[in-house]
Amino acid sequence: MKKLLTAILLTTSIFGFAQNQSLISNVPNRNTTSLNGVWNYIVDPYETGYYSFHHDEYDKQAKPSNAAYFNNYHAVNKQELVEYDFDKSPKINIPGDWTSQVPELKYYEGNVWFKKSFDYNLKAGKRLFVYLGAINYKADVYLNGKKLGTHIGGFTPFNYEVTSIAKAKDNYLVIKVDNTRHKEDVPTINTDWWNYGGITRDVTLIEEEASFVEDYNIQLKKNNATLISGFVKINNPNVSQNAVTITIPELKINYKGKVGADGILNFEIPAKKISYWSPENPKLYDVTLEYNGQKLKDNIGFRTIETKEDQILLNGKPIFLRGISIHEENAKGGRANSEEDALRLLNWAKELGCNYVRLAHYPHNENIIRTADKMGLMVWEEIPVYWTVEFTRQATYQNAEDQLTAAVTRDKNRACIIIWSMANETPISDPRYAFIKKLVDHTKSLDNTRLISAALLTQSDSAGFGTINDAIGDYLDIISFNQYLGWYGGKLEDAEKIFWKTKYNKPVIVSEFGGDAKQGLHGEKNERWTEEYQEYLYIQNLKMIEKIPHLSGLSPWILVDFRSPRRLLPGIQDEYNRKGLISNDGNKKKAFYIMQNWYSKKEKEQNQN
Ligand code: GCU
Repeated sequence: MKKLLTAILLTTSIFGFAQNQSLISNVPNRNTTSLNGVWNYIVDPYETGYYSFHHDEYDKQAKPSNAAYFNNYHAVNKQELVEYDFDKSPKINIPGDWTSQVPELKYYEGNVWFKKSFDYNLKAGKRLFVYLGAINYKADVYLNGKKLGTHIGGFTPFNYEVTSIAKAKDNYLVIKVDNTRHKEDVPTINTDWWNYGGITRDVTLIEEEASFVEDYNIQLKKNNATLISGFVKINNPNVSQNAVTITIPELKINYKGKVGADGILNFEIPAKKISYWSPENPKLYDVTLEYNGQKLKDNIGFRTIETKEDQILLNGKPIFLRGISIHEENAKGGRANSEEDALRLLNWAKELGCNYVRLAHYPHNENIIRTADKMGLMVWEEIPVYWTVEFTRQATYQNAEDQLTAAVTRDKNRACIIIWSMANETPISDPRYAFIKKLVDHTKSLDNTRLISAALLTQSDSAGFGTINDAIGDYLDIISFNQYLGWYGGKLEDAEKIFWKTKYNKPVIVSEFGGDAKQGLHGEKNERWTEEYQEYLYIQNLKMIEKIPHLSGLSPWILVDFRSPRRLLPGIQDEYNRKGLISNDGNKKKAFYIMQNWYSKKEKEQNQN
């Protein structure tokens, strides 16, 4: 936790209130104005709005040319040459990717400019920030022609202060989005999901006082079920106003503390008679932070999560994670981002019998995290260190670490999150080992209360055993691995003869297994792509999986068919990965009921223990 504070302080002290403002948390409960809605956009494959004809960057010019799109310029007379006009350009709904909204942009990977005009009457002494839930992949952000900053990473939030730039009338927020893939990015150039470009999550204005609560952590201290601990961080601390009150009425807590000159208050508050958060009892407490006459509310659950030898303990009791993997897609073939999207996905998970979801392969939007908190679904949250990122490149590591810091900063008060995942199916090598170990150490410095894992690849030993022989397992709390018996190899008939072993006495999660089926395609159980094949695959895999020593959970791949440019079999895949238990148009497949039945029996078994 201390490192998180240092990271935040460093950002604030170096940049002050300048462009790279440290992340503001709990945005949904702040004084906000949404900039969601209809924006104009300009497709700019040659980055004409960013570079001069000699390829000089306009935003490096002392007085950027009116040809720079971020100036949102309009000709002032009939002679003037201006070769763009946002207001006459096409419109798009934000938040939303361009793949699913603009058919001509389905395969487009490059630059698109977006513009939103707005008025804002900012009273004297108040401060204004623009907060972006996520932009895939690189964003250059401007307000009224001034560069606010550049952000890299497609799945985590960021914000900029605009107090001295915003005007009462006719502000224009212009964002250049580039979703071009690069080997050195995180994720790297190849993924098994669609590269949805655009402003894919909410755009919000946040109004604050001169000195305000920017971030805080209020959770149970590690290994202590009766002590709430954490920190409060004040942006622009005001030494004459350093009193902070934390109230949790239902726990009879009315804690008063003082922040230091650095704006930080570290606290520990004894708490009795907590109704602990769990899937059966997703209790969220009303929490209010008061500072300098301001009240910031949140709804926070309290629970402990730990491992003891090969068991996962929730609130001190062994728990089996009945999970499913989920990609962040809505029912309209695009990126999910709303509460409605979250309810659709998580209600299906509940119907399947889940108490846990693996949100793959990147941090999902805040709506699904807060909805899981309310519904009592435990969450595996992951950063997109996926397959073959450039493990030897420091800037690639920093990118991964920055995405992890933003995810932890945004979600660290959500009881539903029990696992931070460092990576997915990364090939074993010394540089990859060092890369992931550094991420593990960084995660623990930010949050030592949650479990750490990664979806590992498997090997088979000479005796034909399936095994997880990956040294990074030494640093993981949970040994998770993906295996695809019957889809990418092996015979389903052999399932009952296959045994798995791991050298660790740690909990094991099978983080992926599954196979494709085109919903509505029927045939014999040995006919690949039919629902019957997928059904048989689940039956056989589950017979094998239930024998795995230390098994503490599973998250089959995957809840819903999802779009992927790798899956091109005509009439069957048609650019969709069909491993969903539900088709992308919402129809359940036969395997859904196999998994549902298995979870139902597992739940009864757990309740008898
Ligand atoms: C891999 C990978 C997934 C991918 C899946 C598949 O394990 O983790 O992202 O979609 O297998 O091949 O369908």
